[in-house]
Amino acid sequence: MKVFVLGGDGFCGWPCAVNLAHRGHDVVIVDNLSRRKIDIDLGVESLTPIATIQERLRAWEQVDGRAMRFVHLDIAREYERLLELLRSERPEAIVHFAEQRAAPYSMKTSATKRYTVDNNVNGTHNLLAAIVESGVDVHIVHLGTMGVYGYGSHRGATIPEGYLTVEVPQPDGSRFTEQILHPTNPGSVYHMTKTLDQLLFFYYNKNDSIRITDLHQGIVWGTNTSLTEKDPRLTNRFDYDGDYGTVLNRFLMQAAIGYPLTVHGTGGQTRAFIHIRDSVRCVQLALEHPPTQGEKVKIFNQMTESHRVADLAEKVAALTGARVDRLPNPRNEAIENDLIVDNRCFLELGLQPTTLDDGLLTEVVDVARRWADRCDRSKIPCRSAWTSRQAEAIRTGA
Ligand SMILES: NC(=O)c1ccc[n+]([C@@H]2O[C@H](COP(=O)([O-])OP(=O)(O)OC[C@H]3O[C@@H](n4cnc5c(N)ncnc54)[C@H](O)[C@@H]3O)[C@@H](O)[C@H]2O)c1
Repeated sequence: MKVFVLGGDGFCGWPCAVNLAHRGHDVVIVDNLSRRKIDIDLGVESLTPIATIQERLRAWEQVDGRAMRFVHLDIAREYERLLELLRSERPEAIVHFAEQRAAPYSMKTSATKRYTVDNNVNGTHNLLAAIVESGVDVHIVHLGTMGVYGYGSHRGATIPEGYLTVEVPQPDGSRFTEQILHPTNPGSVYHMTKTLDQLLFFYYNKNDSIRITDLHQGIVWGTNTSLTEKDPRLTNRFDYDGDYGTVLNRFLMQAAIGYPLTVHGTGGQTRAFIHIRDSVRCVQLALEHPPTQGEKVKIFNQMTESHRVADLAEKVAALTGARVDRLPNPRNEAIENDLIVDNRCFLELGLQPTTLDDGLLTEVVDVARRWADRCDRSKIPCRSAWTSRQAEAIRTGA
């Protein structure tokens, strides 16, 4: 099958692209390399040294024998080129990773807020409009986030896969039941763009019958897959800085370099997690099980387990002897929350979850130790504050 991987040079996109190519699909990576540019702007680099996209593709062809193609294109700003690409290539599926994906980066300044909205919402909308205009019959698999449901209290209720069944009272006292999109509760500008994506998908699916699977992904941890380990030039990126690093990978990397684990607030925040290998497998499963013509947007919760941040820190500390530091929370969020998630869709399709076992945690620590001298410690603290109240708390350490 011909598949476009939008954002295929990124952390989740690159291992996904090589997996699809390895399975015999004709893969075209579409990326504007903005993630690499943001690293330059922030003065930080992936902890693991990553090859250029051209070197990656050369290495991949040498290692696997199946070439992938690359198109340098900004989906948010180059609508005509995107349309032309769809018309000429006529892909059967598009995996859409191409968004600004860091909540802290989205909250840094008005400029990064506006960039995140412009890039993410325009990119998704351009894609949908170009599919309609080109008339291509294609299945979109989009990477959304578990964060669209919000991290408040769900009072013990299980978060369903995208849709909530509600009872609506009628004037005559009777009630009818209906399935609605689960109410959204974004916790940052980044998360808000993902909730807007959801509405765009709902509308284009209803109006134009576009076939869409929206994957509400948890926080991804780990770094390489068996395929990206095959050659150093295929190595995946590892973000550790205060803007792009995600919590578990940051703890593992901090433990590796002898930096105290940075728990924000009480650590009572509960979040959903998934290993990069399972993320890759889920995208493959979603592509293999497309919605039928006329089916509503399929929504899967792409996560395998939930953990409290403080528990993760304790686990990493027990494994490595690291010290845990409690820091003021830069985010405006609930001090603690529950999170019970239904993830049956992928389990029923055959996903065998890779859970947090000591071996895999140690594997990440080993990768981080190997590249410890590439770490710039000054980039570890999270300095992007959600409001002036959090900025003040960070400044005074209160
Ligand atoms: N990493 C996680 O823990 C995580 C968790 C949940 C959801 N997600 C979602 O998965 C997707 C991929 O995340 P990631 O961690 O790989 O991020 P990433 O930043 O590493 O990769 C995104 C890629 O998209 C490209 N891109 C961004 N805007 C583009 C545009 N306008 N045109 C073309 N290319 C563009 C970037 O250059 C980059 O290569 C994102 O949509 C993110 O929201 C990631």
